[in-house]
Amino acid sequence: MKRIKAIYPGSFDPPTNGHLDLIERGSKIFDELVVAILRNPEKDPLFSLADRRKMLEAMTSGFDNVSVDTFEGLTVDYALRVEATTILRGIRAISDYEYELQMALMNRKLQPGLETVFMMPAEKYSYLSSRLVREVAQLGGSIACLVPELVAQKLREKIDVAHKFENGDPAAGQTPSEGKSKSRKKKS
Ligand code: PNS
Repeated sequence: MKRIKAIYPGSFDPPTNGHLDLIERGSKIFDELVVAILRNPEKDPLFSLADRRKMLEAMTSGFDNVSVDTFEGLTVDYALRVEATTILRGIRAISDYEYELQMALMNRKLQPGLETVFMMPAEKYSYLSSRLVREVAQLGGSIACLVPELVAQKLREKIDVAHKFENGDPAAGQTPSEGKSKSRKKKS
């Protein structure tokens, strides 16, 4: 019988409960699912690739058919390399659709043999995005129920260190001016 291997590509900066919800759904319909974290040299992520990988590995350890990997370059090339036939992407609301459709059609143009499958996360995650989680966490809001506890913990640690840099805490290894100039720019 034909086995279906899918990849779930994304930035996962950080991974959220919405991502986990989609991974769980994907693991039920695909024989194998690879969560593929994009290494994007043009972006300045909050979490390193290694951190994101560790978080996702911990989050998905309970799924036998889910693995985590990283990739660079085109998603379609990566999919071919790992012999996946399907790309999984989540659609939360109609506003996601236009971008996702464009991407799916471009991927189809590049590699007609690959199919994109869209799945919807649970409604309670329909407003959830990594960008908003980063913003809420950085501004001191509660992110409980939005990300797994291990991710919340990592976010708290990151934000603590960033505040120490900004305040020129010698323990953080920088002067106030260095801390300010090196503090992270807010991302869109
Ligand atoms: O989590 P994100 O940031 O929405 O994921 C976007 C991602 C990684 C799926 C997309 O940017 C991507 O596939 N990038 C790899 C480069 C590529 O293949 N570009 C052409 C896409 S049509």
